[in-house]
Amino acid sequence: MTQKNFGRRIRLGMVGGGQGAFIGGVHRIAARLDDRYELVAGVFSSDAQRSRASAQDLGIADDRSYSGFDAMAKAEAARPDGIEVVAIVTPNHLHFGPCRAFLEAGIHVICDKPVTTTLAEAKELAGIIERSGRLFILTHNYTGYPMLRQMREMIAAGMIGKLRHVQAEYAQDWLTEAVETTGAKGAEWRTDPARSGAGGAIGDIGTHAFNAAAFVTGETPDRLYADLTSFVPGRALDDSANILLRYASGAKGMLWASQIAVGNENAISLRVYGEKGGLEWHHGAIDQLWFTPYGEPKRLITRNGAGAGPAANRVSRVPSGHPEGYLEGFANIYREAADAIVAARLGILPGVEVVYPGIREGIVGLAFIEAAVESSRTGSWARLSAH
Ligand SMILES: NC(=O)c1ccc[n+]([C@@H]2O[C@H](COP(=O)([O-])OP(=O)(O)OC[C@H]3O[C@@H](n4cnc5c(N)ncnc54)[C@H](O)[C@@H]3O)[C@@H](O)[C@H]2O)c1
Repeated sequence: MTQKNFGRRIRLGMVGGGQGAFIGGVHRIAARLDDRYELVAGVFSSDAQRSRASAQDLGIADDRSYSGFDAMAKAEAARPDGIEVVAIVTPNHLHFGPCRAFLEAGIHVICDKPVTTTLAEAKELAGIIERSGRLFILTHNYTGYPMLRQMREMIAAGMIGKLRHVQAEYAQDWLTEAVETTGAKGAEWRTDPARSGAGGAIGDIGTHAFNAAAFVTGETPDRLYADLTSFVPGRALDDSANILLRYASGAKGMLWASQIAVGNENAISLRVYGEKGGLEWHHGAIDQLWFTPYGEPKRLITRNGAGAGPAANRVSRVPSGHPEGYLEGFANIYREAADAIVAARLGILPGVEVVYPGIREGIVGLAFIEAAVESSRTGSWARLSAH
């Protein structure tokens, strides 16, 4: 059950996500799935003509199709019907500036990951969010998946016992060759330290695996040992990362992030082991979670099916056996954000548990990237300095 809109949809703006872009379109679908938002304003590209054309495609009124995010934040804040929340879906180096502009204009922010390009900026952003009193939602969208909610609930309930080992992976193959030299924009900025930040694969997808592991286990490693590689000649950032993790609790882990792993598309997976049992989940079988209490046969838990608990059922949309996926998981983050935004509008607490990631997860993600780069450079263990 979710809260109602109390008479009207949430007015949403967008920065990025113009014609030919990837994730902006996903955010728009996610925002539409539960009918809680209405996209009414935006600056969709750094190219003014393309931004205007994109706004027209999306049915945005001419006076709300802007040429820059600063102008948009000011103008929208001054309108009685101005946007209440903005989605920031630009390349990484263009997260901090828009986030600051909208928060300082009193507008809630939904931002894609990694939150900024440096840890220092992420920490600075935390201060800006705090002073603004506005909401900040970071779309580590895998946390919206029912089976990850299930893992989290089972681990918190002690069903695998004290945590011992975490095995997190995110493997792709689309950067196996130097596609960044062929005009592929998404590859261009992702392999450029000035626009991507210090991490390549580790920042782009390693942070998702890291965040997902922290989300389900409730624990964040405090030290790591990383071996980052750029296999493609001339590439300035890592395209593959092997990382050992150590937790303050004594648990250990391994994280592998690769964009040159031929045959993998978006192969994120988690395997988590405790003193009493293990849990295993793979993106390719998104609605299935394997649970093995030690000494007993494996049990298959399915989304909205036998064995699924309230945390997973709350974010499941259709009966078991009908597949749900990436878009629905993303929409779960938007739905929880909507609950929080409507509650903020009314000055009340959200009526349901709000578990979406925020700036804390963003800071930890940047601490992870910077520690990994440092460890790989020095050939020694590095501490995550998220505080
Ligand atoms: N959560 C996820 O699963 C996921 C998946 C892909 C990308 N991402 C993240 O989303 C962000 C965008 O990635 P993408 O793949 O969509 O990139 P993209 O290159 O496909 O799109 C970026 C868009 O931003 C626009 N843009 C650039 N500068 C701008 C400016 N100054 N003002 C307005 N718009 C501007 C570009 O014109 C383009 O439309 C990145 O931070 C990326 O890490 C997240």
